[in-house]
Amino acid sequence: MALPDKHGYFGSFGGSFIPETLYSCLTELKKAYAQAKKDKVFKDRLCYYLKEYAGRPTRLYYAKALSAHLKLKIYLKREDLLHTGAHKINNSLGQALLAQFMGKKRIIAETGAGQHGVSAATVARLFGLSCDVYMGEEDIRRQRMNVFRMKILGARVIPVTSGAKTLKDACSEAMREWVARVRDTYYLIGSTFGPHPYPTLVRDFQSVIGKEARKEILAKEGRLADYLVACVGGGSNSMGLFYPFFKDTKVKFIGVEAGGLNKDLNSASITHGEPGVLHGAKTFVLQDAFGQIKGTHSVAAGLDYPGVGPEHSFYHESRRAYYTTVSDKEALQGFKMLSELEGIIPALESAHAIYYLKKLAKQHRGALVILCLSGRGDKDLEIVQEYEPKTKI
Ligand SMILES: Cc1ncc(COP(=O)(O)O)c(C=O)c1O
Repeated sequence: MALPDKHGYFGSFGGSFIPETLYSCLTELKKAYAQAKKDKVFKDRLCYYLKEYAGRPTRLYYAKALSAHLKLKIYLKREDLLHTGAHKINNSLGQALLAQFMGKKRIIAETGAGQHGVSAATVARLFGLSCDVYMGEEDIRRQRMNVFRMKILGARVIPVTSGAKTLKDACSEAMREWVARVRDTYYLIGSTFGPHPYPTLVRDFQSVIGKEARKEILAKEGRLADYLVACVGGGSNSMGLFYPFFKDTKVKFIGVEAGGLNKDLNSASITHGEPGVLHGAKTFVLQDAFGQIKGTHSVAAGLDYPGVGPEHSFYHESRRAYYTTVSDKEALQGFKMLSELEGIIPALESAHAIYYLKKLAKQHRGALVILCLSGRGDKDLEIVQEYEPKTKI
């Protein structure tokens, strides 16, 4: 069965739980995307910009020292080498071209770590669109450099002061703005969450990661990997890697969520959450006994979100993927391990997936692994410095 179904459901997850006012814009978006997918000019333009502007295909790099250290065979899918420093540009290029296809002149976006905000501001410059980015005050504080980058690129960064002042609140604010200005505004969502068709659309634009990785591993190893490992925030880099391997049932998928400080203060929506509704979709969410969304925490701003894309909830329920957690402290060790062994400084989000390899190595010595290195660590240096006394970096 092709997923999602025509109502946007992946099994029992997804759909569109939206106010009446959003119904017509989501219908318009669905129609436009269906047309764009078949449009040769649209497809050619996307391929052109992914290659010439963003720098695709990214390398599948054999991490020799890390492999020797952990006694695994590890390949890194180097999304960190893309323009703007993370996988987010794949989706932003796709959606900005879609906005143009629909004749919209203005984009809005939400951001947590600032990577999606930067990629949205970048594509807005590239295609001459105006751009407003909603960002929680807490994230503005901890990702200052990315705020500066967005401003240099001519975007307006709008501080969000409600709730925990992080990604969830930025997303709610962006949705409110979209309802108010739908005529000229395109909401460029940054991950595989939100109402139908966003989870599908973002997954499709990010699938380039897995499509390339599949070809590359076959060329290098003559077989598919045993494990695909990626960090999961909203779920876009992981779904982008996993999806093209969906039917290869021998390839195991591992999604690494943010274990934060402990089991009460984290952002691990699948591991510690339960089904509920957030930002227009039914999915796993962190909520209390009264259905109120819980406060979350992660050292990685890009993982600090109380929900997850509905397709991941489906993968979890159907056991197609296994979800686990890595704590703040462990992620900082993962950050250090990759920097020291390979000379590659990872984003703190990706560092969660890296640390998980240590756990995998204990049980599956010698396994062939592809890890999605979703971004580079430049944006996180100040945070790592704050933790330095504890982590002895
Ligand atoms: C480098 C990096 N990796 C991963 C993520 C998590 O997002 P997603 O789960 O959508 O890939 C983010 C989010 O900002 C990010 O900046």
